[in-house]
Amino acid sequence: MIFLKKLKNKYIWERIFVERLTEPLHLNLVSLFIFLFGSFRSKVAFDLIIRNQHAYCLLKAADLAKAKGVMRLAVIEFGVAAGTGLMNLAKIASRVTSVTDVEFEIYGFDTGKGMPPPVDYRDHPELYQEGDFVMNRDALEKILPPNVKLVIGEVSETLPPFLESLQAPLGFVSMDLDYYSSTKSVLDCFAQAGPEKFLPCMPVYFDDLQDDAHNSFCGELLAIGEFNQNNPLRKIERPRFLRLRRIFKNARWVEHIFTLHVLDHPVRQMLTSDRKKIHLENPYL
Ligand SMILES: C[S@@+](CC[C@H](N)C(=O)[O-])C[C@H]1O[C@@H](n2cnc3c(N)ncnc32)[C@H](O)[C@@H]1O
Repeated sequence: MIFLKKLKNKYIWERIFVERLTEPLHLNLVSLFIFLFGSFRSKVAFDLIIRNQHAYCLLKAADLAKAKGVMRLAVIEFGVAAGTGLMNLAKIASRVTSVTDVEFEIYGFDTGKGMPPPVDYRDHPELYQEGDFVMNRDALEKILPPNVKLVIGEVSETLPPFLESLQAPLGFVSMDLDYYSSTKSVLDCFAQAGPEKFLPCMPVYFDDLQDDAHNSFCGELLAIGEFNQNNPLRKIERPRFLRLRRIFKNARWVEHIFTLHVLDHPVRQMLTSDRKKIHLENPYL
């Protein structure tokens, strides 16, 4: 149903033609089979989930967490607006839980009354304005599943106490606040929070990168650059080999995926451990 509604949008057709039909024919034929009969994991691998970025990141987070014995993760969407992204996250998270047993608590942060005023050119006032993306909070709250909560207010005020009281580690964050100033507020809080509040390698999706006006001196990219410059033990980088590992190489969402590396995380600070030593077989011997 949602897929059929989406077909009304011009950008979906552009995606189908530019991203998908430029891929090899045999892979598109296999994906038709996967679409009809495939498992959830194979659908994620074949980019067949709406907002595949959410599916990839939630599955990656769950797999990383489970490998460390962590069975509950927190997930945040920064910038909720009408709530389409948040509902999509919730639906995909329940499918990830059914294949991994990792549970999710999901939080949507937003002013509840649309964009605050832009601070200066770094917020791209040519693209976003105060009052854009107003939320219908009552209607949205009625349809949210029990594991999804809205955190309403200016993110620089709501996030610090939230992180303080957070019990489950953050496994995935979707950033869609549009402004440099708002994104910087979030990343400043991430720099201050204790390392155990995150998975040691946490997938992060940054949405606002693909307009012609976006650049590394404004918006999300500037906030990421400054975060990396100011924090020797917290770094945000693109996973270099992700595109090469994907079946469909032209997918645009891959460009939006980053990893927060928490270099001061306890598991990255342990210089010895009692795990079994790694032994490499030599097939020539
Ligand atoms: C583009 S919309 C989000 C769209 C949504 N992620 C989706 O997929 O449908 C951006 C949202 O960020 C919110 N926002 C921007 N700056 C904020 C701030 N400083 N604090 C809280 N919310 C903020 C706005 O209220 C707006 O609803």
